[in-house]
Amino acid sequence: MMSSSLATVSYIGATILFILSLGGLSHPESSRRGNLYGMIGMTIAVLATVFGPRVTMAGLPWIIGAMLVGGSVGLYAARKVQMTQMPELVALMHSMVGLAACLVGFANYIDPAATFQLVDGKSIPLTDAEKAIHEIEIYVGILIGAVTFSGSIIAFGKLSGKIGGKPLLLPGRHFMNLLGLLVVIGFGWQFLHAETVSAGMIGLTVMTVIALLFGIHMVMAIGGADMPVVVSMLNSYSGWAAAATGFMLNNDLLIVTGALVGSSGAILSYIMCRAMNRNFISVIAGGFGTAGGTVVKASGDGQPAGEVVAISAVDTAELLRDAKNVIIVPGYGMAVAQAQHTVYEITQLLREKGVNVRFGIHPVAGRMPGHMNVLLAEARVPYDIVMEMDELNADFPNTDVAMVIGANDIVNPAAQEDPSSPIAGMPVLEVWKAKTSIVMKRSMASGYAGVDNPLFYKENNRMLFGDAKKMLDEVLVALKA
Ligand code: TAP
Repeated sequence: MMSSSLATVSYIGATILFILSLGGLSHPESSRRGNLYGMIGMTIAVLATVFGPRVTMAGLPWIIGAMLVGGSVGLYAARKVQMTQMPELVALMHSMVGLAACLVGFANYIDPAATFQLVDGKSIPLTDAEKAIHEIEIYVGILIGAVTFSGSIIAFGKLSGKIGGKPLLLPGRHFMNLLGLLVVIGFGWQFLHAETVSAGMIGLTVMTVIALLFGIHMVMAIGGADMPVVVSMLNSYSGWAAAATGFMLNNDLLIVTGALVGSSGAILSYIMCRAMNRNFISVIAGGFGTAGGTVVKASGDGQPAGEVVAISAVDTAELLRDAKNVIIVPGYGMAVAQAQHTVYEITQLLREKGVNVRFGIHPVAGRMPGHMNVLLAEARVPYDIVMEMDELNADFPNTDVAMVIGANDIVNPAAQEDPSSPIAGMPVLEVWKAKTSIVMKRSMASGYAGVDNPLFYKENNRMLFGDAKKMLDEVLVALKA
């Protein structure tokens, strides 16, 4: 077993590796290294905890048994999950962190040993002030944990399509939330002044039920188009839930790691909100966005009209061959079709012919932050031709062909042209400003936000209907011919 000082040193080492990991993950080129730092850090953290001074020999078999079960489930899920199901898996994992915070909180409250502390090897009861702080940690920890747990379960349901994307807007919902908050504060007071554990349990249980309902209500009220913000927000909550667990268990590493996840998730949520031109508070208050998956007509003057013009794979290849500047905009459909490798082959071929090919990445393309970057990196597309939306948007007027592969919402001009559109104000890639835009998708169906796309009807737009992988294979064959 490890001495307490060795465990502390290991914790410091793990913390440094986690910080380096976050730093590495900020750029595609260093992200593999970042992941490696994270994995080493987590291995050290787990070993230092399991073999550290707090675990007795008698407890070891239980912990190892639990790790084997948890590890096997995790390994199975990670191997089986499709890349497009990753956000759902992440949401489910966030819910586990929330559940763990709740269970640890309850266990800690019931455990009589938790009201004692070890000083110089002796067990001393906590003072009244220390006991009050410990109880506040438990109350707040369970509160955050329960909101994270139920909110993440609903997010999982929405992302996997098991629950509709339409926001549930109950009458007087802000009033209900406020009432819930007041009841939670009131029962918190009762909990802190409870004489016995069973009396305190009443406040704790009522608060947990309200927090669970609040988590459900909060995510149910958020429309399909705003789900990216919710995913990163729940990521942040799961971090704070872990930090709260760290306070309850007096574990410094858990506090630091939780704070790192919590704050980086909060920064990501802010970036997502900016990318979608949303106000963070309004997203949480709910009510943005519309039905997901079904076609909802964009209303008002921006109503799409006219006919769409289809194009064949052979003609697409012809346009690409004659182009000098090409911008490829990948979206969720490229991930579904797993078309990234063919995209790379086409890119290589065009670059060999002297065509300037670049990729335009929208911050919320696909279903998770960085989704497109991961796929393109996997297909070995060079990083220097993968640009962010802001770097590229001004270049569309000088572009011969803008090729949209399985993207929809992120290239929807209604965001700029129709103030009544549910995605109004969201910055988009302005592909319609290119000489020709080609949209590759299977049908006229809408994207995640459920809004119609006037791009399809523009004069300079062509539709290449079919599965992205199949159509790109055909384009590749035609290009090689
Ligand atoms: P979407 O707007 O969802 O459009 C994807 C399009 O791909 C669909 O219209 C679909 O049309 C097409 N498609 C599906 N399978 C295909 C296949 N096998 N081959 C060819 N096309 C296929 O995607 P986007 O433009 O990437 O925008 C992302 C959306 O997801 C945004 O609304 C965003 O808010 C939301 N969202 C993002 C995130 C993050 S963090 N990135 C998280 C949650 C939600 P067909 O059915 O006609 O083929």
